Amino acid sequence: MQHITIEPKLIAKVEDVTPTVLAAMAKTTNPRLKAVMDRLIHHLHQFTIETRPTEEEFEYGLRWIAALGHHTHETNNEVVLAADVLGASTLIDLINNDGMQGETMSALLGPFYRGHAPDCANGDCIARSETPGPALFFKGRVIGLDGAPVAGAKLDIWQASPVGLYENQDADQDDFNLRGVFHTDEAGSFHFTSVKPAGYPVPTDGPVGVLLHAQHRHPMRPAHIHFIVSAPGHKTLITQIFSDTPQALATDVVFGAKVQIVGDFVEHTEPHAEYPGAQLPFYSCEYTFRLLEGEPTYPVPPISGTKA
Ligand code: BEZ
Ligand code: FE
Repeated sequence: MQHITIEPKLIAKVEDVTPTVLAAMAKTTNPRLKAVMDRLIHHLHQFTIETRPTEEEFEYGLRWIAALGHHTHETNNEVVLAADVLGASTLIDLINNDGMQGETMSALLGPFYRGHAPDCANGDCIARSETPGPALFFKGRVIGLDGAPVAGAKLDIWQASPVGLYENQDADQDDFNLRGVFHTDEAGSFHFTSVKPAGYPVPTDGPVGVLLHAQHRHPMRPAHIHFIVSAPGHKTLITQIFSDTPQALATDVVFGAKVQIVGDFVEHTEPHAEYPGAQLPFYSCEYTFRLLEGEPTYPVPPISGTKA
């Protein structure tokens, strides 16, 4: 058999692939892109060598990734959901928001944040259409690390209906049901009325559901309310306030619950002077959000629209 000599040498064996690919990317001028891609290729290739996928498994994996895109549209972001159920989003969250200075712990944005929620006055109810569940009276404060109130802070708030769906997933809910934007007063306080949140399943009709099923994992998130708290001169806080059993918190399908952001949801079975006329039983919750100083940023909504 005749051997043709080619210089530089072509890939001939497994060990040749990683250095050849790294060399091909070596001229990347953006240093961060270069560093991230170098490490990605290193770990991706090591993972592949270690797990030795068959060609059928590789094709299945690629189809699974393509399906993430096919299930991403105006009302669902399967790519975000996949990052969440794999624990990647929580890792990114903790790397960037470690809570070490006493600020309120952050939590995942999730795939259901919509921009442009209606502006509300303090005390408004965010249940805009028939929504089951006991009433919730939520009182919050926004302060800095020094304890000083943050006046004029913006709170972008959203939650799922106790039927287990966000309004954008549910034709029976009005547009922007259980979503609203509030602002703090001079004392750094805000308050709103809603329904007590309930746990709900993440969507399981796409590739993420297939994975959860294969892993014998339940799809449930513990009950929570989402908050984006932003104010000039402060780092934006994206978080969730939880209300659920220890078991539900510990088995959150997206690993989002943290002890510091479990709220004290008080059940009221008797009339209370502060909440005249409230139907029994109802709940109240008070929570103080502590912001770090910094530059405010704002997340890009992972979904744009509402149900068709
Ligand atoms: C949410 O809380 O809205 C959420 C977060 C991660 C995945 C799915 C839903
Ligand atoms: Fe949620």
